[in-house]
Amino acid sequence: MTEKLEDIAVAMVANGRGLLAADESTATIKKRFDTIGLESTETSRRDYREMLLRAEKAMRKYISGVILYEETLFQHAVDGTQLVDIIRAAGSIPGIKVDAGAKPMTNFPAETITEGLDGLAQRLARYHEAGARFAKWRGVISISDTLPTAGAVRANAHALARYAALCQDAGIVPIVEPEVLMDGAPGDHSIDRSEQVTEWTLRTTFEELAAMRVKLEGMILKPSMVIDGKKARNASVAEVAERTIRVLKRTVPSAVPGIAFLSGGQSTEEATAHLSAMNASHDLPWKLTFSYGRALQQEALNAWHGKADNIGAGQRAFSHRAEMCSLAAKGTWKK
Ligand code: 13P
Repeated sequence: MTEKLEDIAVAMVANGRGLLAADESTATIKKRFDTIGLESTETSRRDYREMLLRAEKAMRKYISGVILYEETLFQHAVDGTQLVDIIRAAGSIPGIKVDAGAKPMTNFPAETITEGLDGLAQRLARYHEAGARFAKWRGVISISDTLPTAGAVRANAHALARYAALCQDAGIVPIVEPEVLMDGAPGDHSIDRSEQVTEWTLRTTFEELAAMRVKLEGMILKPSMVIDGKKARNASVAEVAERTIRVLKRTVPSAVPGIAFLSGGQSTEEATAHLSAMNASHDLPWKLTFSYGRALQQEALNAWHGKADNIGAGQRAFSHRAEMCSLAAKGTWKK
């Protein structure tokens, strides 16, 4: 495995490959399992993630890296193999979610600040030792007619930049994820408002990254797309693609090697179509790929349904969606 930050970052967004976000917190994976009536236990979480990581076709051909929750980084498969070794054996890179979650922000009602900086340097050393070569930190920006506030945008950008600097010092590539929510309350915002807030958020994030002396060549940006709120959705695929590219060109320096989107509550097909449209119609200074959680896993979770007999079906569903996302990362996906 390469060890230079730039090389790891380039490998994470290499031709037609992208990231599997399998780092749902214990509370979030419980919500996902509830949809198939499965109890979330250490074993069921392990079984589910082992199924995904052993999907050979997806992992070898389309998935450059996997974002893990801390529990998974240290977990063993049924046969005793470490799950990180399964990832590495497939030629993919293990990564780790390191933030401690978005918490209510004092003095800023209805907004959050992501916590987890205290003791992070020590945790990163442990994660590196365990095989992680990249990390993720998610800042959450709520959007409405009156939100976000400048205070919340600035504080979240600053925390992302502090985190990114610590990662690079530990030999770990930071995924910098400032998510402008599409499905937060009230969730009925226009695409104009999304464009305005996304541009503001990304500009502030790169100001803070510069202030904290983060090396742009050794990071990956994980943004949300410019899209109308979940309760207002009607912008076309072309419009989402055009506006997202416009904002990224205005705010993301070309020294950043890659941008890997989150899916954020878009349907599986929407997330695939939007990524493909962006790559098909533009000559871009960075690689543009996926770092999807729900949009990569939804079909696999439904096909598996918590049953050992369905492992093959779950893996086929995952490999299929990973292949479609890979085509989208090359701009050649067709409905
Ligand atoms: P979704 O693609 O489900 O939004 O998850 C990606 C992610 O990592 C959010 O932090």
